[in-house]
Amino acid sequence: MSFGFEPGFVWGVATAAYQIEGAVAEDGRGPSIWDTFSHTPGKVDGGATGDVACDHYHRWAQDLDLMVDLGVNAYRLSIAWPRILPTGADQVEPRGVDFYRRLLEGLHERGITPFVTLYHWDLPQALEDKGGWRSRETSHRFAEYAAVLADSLGDLIPFWITLNEPFVSSMVGYGEGRHAPGAQEGHGALAAAHHLLLGHGLAVRALRERGARQIGITLNMSPTVPASGSDADVAAAARSDLFVNKLFTDPVLSGVYPPLARDVFAEITDFAFLREGDLEVISEPLDFLGVNYYYRAHVRNAPSAVDPSERTAFDIGVTAAIPDGLTRTAMGWPVEPEGLHATLIGLHDRYATLPPIYITENGCAFPETVGSDGSVDDPARIAFVEAHIDAARRAAEDGVNLKGYFYWSLLDNFEWAKGYAPRFGLVYMDYETQTRTPKSSFHWLRERLAE
Ligand code: FCB
Repeated sequence: MSFGFEPGFVWGVATAAYQIEGAVAEDGRGPSIWDTFSHTPGKVDGGATGDVACDHYHRWAQDLDLMVDLGVNAYRLSIAWPRILPTGADQVEPRGVDFYRRLLEGLHERGITPFVTLYHWDLPQALEDKGGWRSRETSHRFAEYAAVLADSLGDLIPFWITLNEPFVSSMVGYGEGRHAPGAQEGHGALAAAHHLLLGHGLAVRALRERGARQIGITLNMSPTVPASGSDADVAAAARSDLFVNKLFTDPVLSGVYPPLARDVFAEITDFAFLREGDLEVISEPLDFLGVNYYYRAHVRNAPSAVDPSERTAFDIGVTAAIPDGLTRTAMGWPVEPEGLHATLIGLHDRYATLPPIYITENGCAFPETVGSDGSVDDPARIAFVEAHIDAARRAAEDGVNLKGYFYWSLLDNFEWAKGYAPRFGLVYMDYETQTRTPKSSFHWLRERLAE
């Protein structure tokens, strides 16, 4: 009864292909938008790229053994679309398929259940060159890619996650421009969000037609807190909640776009990308919902100074207002386990159709050093994980159908625009030597999972 959860509860760790694999030019892999972006000067802190990362492509067996040692019964990984279809469509690369076949077989041999994400942000560059997620065509390419995976690896994949965090792919990638492909657009970012969701729904259908049983999507959630009780701040919080949360949960779980979306984005889009029948596809029933939780959003009203004709989707007239006194991680994110409880209860209360939930990511980065004896002591991570699992357990006791918890991440890895500085792992990475050192949180979690 680890942490008070029933024996059938799923305990896992999560990673993503571009953040750990390296080997970007091996076995026929095509370039993705993250290769292009990370190799563009000034885009990633320290000029870091995923070229080598944790060299997981060659060291995967060692990493799977670490999971056995940790005692988890599940692993959430992502498959790199450009390893399977180097140009995003047409020609399947058998060496890419073989790599994941070996990896998935390795998991099954070790008694670890794979949860496989199809898209964790590494869009084949060839598809970006044709418009990327701004284009409706990309939704269809995504469903075809899902079908290729079902046909070639379906026997080894019990749990399917179509997309990871479409909010981040669309709004941070095509709105804010802080992530690949680095676009700063209004209509384009909204179109990207819609086409990601459409691609999700089409992929759900393609997978189900091919016999997949457990299909879900992973959404990042940040409950939103207004900085004050003023009408302006309360309205700002509602806009932020729409932008990050409901713009994604409402279409997927209820088959509607929240009415507020029309107001908030009126100046930048006419929603012409939304076609008859799309919302039906997008709201295909799911077998589970993946929730990524890191922090609550604290916001206040801050009217945009940008001319409406030049606004990106990110300009929704709010600014962050994190109260003093909250502990923050190395990412600047406030530590608020209560937000995880609020997220789960909020979903449970809002959606009659809510399927079972897995927490598919939760974790933290703090400054860490290697001790003179080579060990890495990370008490802040232990406190973080313990408090968040406790919040999750309370939500389950309050009626949420929660089936699992995945810690982000097994290893320190390439943290997108922040490069290698933030360290989220239970295992410390020496990137020079590729040495993996379990941190004290790893040992702590192993003991707790064995209870
Ligand atoms: C999430 C991403 C994941 C990782 C964590 C810290 O938004 O899904 O890849 O970068 O944040």
